[in-house]
Amino acid sequence: MSQMLRDARHYEEEQERAIAPEDRPGFHLSARVGWMNDPNGFSRFGGLYHMFYQYHPYDSHWGPMHWGHAVSEDLLRWRHLPCAMAPDMPYDREGCFSGSAIALSDGRHALMYTGVAEEIGPDGTRLQVQTQNLAFGDGAEYVKYERNPVITAADLPAGGSRCDFRDPKLWQEADGSFRALIANDHADGGGRMLLYKSDDLKRWEYVGALAENRDRLGRMWECPDFFELDGKHVLLGSAQDMLPRGFEYHNGNGTFYLLGDFDRESGAFTEESDHAIDYGIDFYAPQTILTPDGRRVMIGWMQNWDTCNLHTPSTPWFGQMSLPRELSVKNGRLYQKPLRELEALRGAAVVHEHVTLCNEEISLPGVSGRMADMEIELEPGESPFNRFAVRFAKDDRFHTTVSFRPGESVLKVDRKFSGSRRAIIHQRRAKVDHERGRLKLRLILDRYSVEVFVNDGEKVMSATLYTDLAADGIAFFADGSLKFSVRFYPLSL
Ligand code: FRU
Repeated sequence: MSQMLRDARHYEEEQERAIAPEDRPGFHLSARVGWMNDPNGFSRFGGLYHMFYQYHPYDSHWGPMHWGHAVSEDLLRWRHLPCAMAPDMPYDREGCFSGSAIALSDGRHALMYTGVAEEIGPDGTRLQVQTQNLAFGDGAEYVKYERNPVITAADLPAGGSRCDFRDPKLWQEADGSFRALIANDHADGGGRMLLYKSDDLKRWEYVGALAENRDRLGRMWECPDFFELDGKHVLLGSAQDMLPRGFEYHNGNGTFYLLGDFDRESGAFTEESDHAIDYGIDFYAPQTILTPDGRRVMIGWMQNWDTCNLHTPSTPWFGQMSLPRELSVKNGRLYQKPLRELEALRGAAVVHEHVTLCNEEISLPGVSGRMADMEIELEPGESPFNRFAVRFAKDDRFHTTVSFRPGESVLKVDRKFSGSRRAIIHQRRAKVDHERGRLKLRLILDRYSVEVFVNDGEKVMSATLYTDLAADGIAFFADGSLKFSVRFYPLSL
């Protein structure tokens, strides 16, 4: 083991003691210490779920990327393991960037990741060059392959950038051969997802571009995931520098999915449609796995590159993952539902049915707290209402709001009054389907976040909030008049 990896392990073990469990999310994975970004190597191995992540243990801001590591039996209760990789080789000295993992038939766990190395050109300019690399392990200790890198600039098609060539998604086909889908920037207008194949994981051959951006969805694409679901193929990606398209994408760095069909023989993907994966403030770089019982489950980084650098440097940890979400494809869209194992964390239900709300804000007995699963159904009456809102993480000074204006069909998440002292993005809006104001919402609160599942997972909005935990009130508000029902479950581990 390198001294650099030993140092990281020593540091995280020492520093983690200073973080009380109550100062973290309860059932969302957060950085062991320091900084966390993308999920990496999300896989099942040795009877456990493994999640690695982009990790800078020494600071709560991004820095030389290590791979953090955690395991879980239910995807909700996570146990941190020692840091898995440090940037300790010539080909990854500038960082072990994102990648994926698979269980091999010979009993080993294989990681494929992007190594970043600096090159100094003849004129003194510095270039950060990216290659794809392997590491093999037993679920706790990983050894980098001695012949790394395995995919380099020499394997790029004409016009591909060797500086933006990263985040391999690895999988194995039924015939035992391997595929890797890798994000690459191209002179013709942004990202592409390039497909490679191999019989032994070590020698790779370029197949073709699975999807091309052509200046549609931001610029560089990152972090591909690709799978078959409900008779369709789904390509997940994250795009830098997006422009909004109606309500569909937001400015900045965001996520998208392409639905289509894939011809395994030729490697051609025929796209049918594209949408945002999450319409809230904080969601990026998701990865998926197939659970042993056949569910496709996705976890993303619950943060936003445009705002994640504005927290105080002294925070002992920064960065958390989203809730694991069960995916399905229906009506040409990707649906997301909270992982069903979450229901095991529910306490006794508090139910209020057909509550009348008329130009007022009310709270309801038994409905409060910062770890909760709350199902709300709006039951509009004869006359239309202007606005319904639920406010949570609330006290006299603070609250975060999810509000719905049926006249505009807009659902909004707003954390302006959450205690933030920065001029960051505080609001996002999504168009939602409803029948004359009839709408179903499910809010999952976990101390420092909210995830809003609309109409049984048709759309999701995620946002982090850093409100003091003493603000644990929940209230309901209407401009106009309607009835609503709520099923509230406190959550605990
Ligand atoms: C996405 C990303 C990846 C890269 C990693 C670096 O959030 O930019 O493309 O591998 O983060 O930390």
